[in-house]
Amino acid sequence: MDLTNQKIVIIGGSSGIGLATAKAIVAAGGNVVIASRSEAKLNAAKAEIGERVTTFSLDITNEEEVQKLFSSVGSFDGLVITISVEAMGAFVELDSQVARQIFENKFWGHYYAAKYGAAQLKPSGAIIFFSGYASQKPVPNLSIMASVNGALEALARSLAVELSPIRVNVVSPGLVATPLYEGMPTEQRQNYFNYVADSLPVKRIAQPEDIAETVLYLINNKFTTGAVIDVDGGARLV
Ligand SMILES: NC(=O)c1ccc[n+]([C@@H]2O[C@H](COP(=O)([O-])OP(=O)(O)OC[C@H]3O[C@@H](n4cnc5c(N)ncnc54)[C@H](OP(=O)(O)O)[C@@H]3O)[C@@H](O)[C@H]2O)c1
Repeated sequence: MDLTNQKIVIIGGSSGIGLATAKAIVAAGGNVVIASRSEAKLNAAKAEIGERVTTFSLDITNEEEVQKLFSSVGSFDGLVITISVEAMGAFVELDSQVARQIFENKFWGHYYAAKYGAAQLKPSGAIIFFSGYASQKPVPNLSIMASVNGALEALARSLAVELSPIRVNVVSPGLVATPLYEGMPTEQRQNYFNYVADSLPVKRIAQPEDIAETVLYLINNKFTTGAVIDVDGGARLV
């Protein structure tokens, strides 16, 4: 794949799937703008990516900061949003404010990014949202994640029609070994990863590079739009 002269904006590009995607785009000859909140994470990611990378510090929940990002970027070819949020808990016990914050970050973050990014995207360009397998497979304690991911999938289908010819798609991963799990004690995390790997049809969990491949496919393929691509090792089936 040749992404020479393409400019891709990745909000959430300083870690995990977003960082792996940034590296894959640069390896294919493209340029990336990575955005996230922490300057320290952005600088570390920039050093890892090495070339053809610029950084932008923002909180995606701040509508004005999102507008400023796209004013500074100018015309571009692809928008990828990989910001992460996490909330687990029994439906009747989960604090409603925590649940609201999930929508504030993940739903409204994607919404603002698509809204202001679309104005600068080339007509041949692509928007890629991130949901997660809980939107399709009911799992106890994940109802709020299921809801926000389902809302994003519905928004993407709608935008695929309304923002046409810009393509709008969603990547839906299962468990991916990223810094999202760094808060777990090492042994507990490894046991969890092993347990999930055993349960999956593919018998392993994903690495961020597995998911980045799908993002590159969606940037490159000019005939896919309004789709949710499940890259979950079969998690939604078992
Ligand atoms: N990893 C999994 O197992 C898994 C499973 C299913 C779905 N997913 C989805 O895949 C996507 C990527 O996940 P990941 O595991 O790669 O996450 P990650 O490693 O935690 O990276 C998340 C990135 O988002 C940035 N970010 C978080 N909140 C932000 C905000 N309010 N404004 C701007 N940037 C923000 C973080 O940087 P800063 O801290 O600097 O802001 C970081 O660069 C997410 O949508 C996640 O829900 C992941």
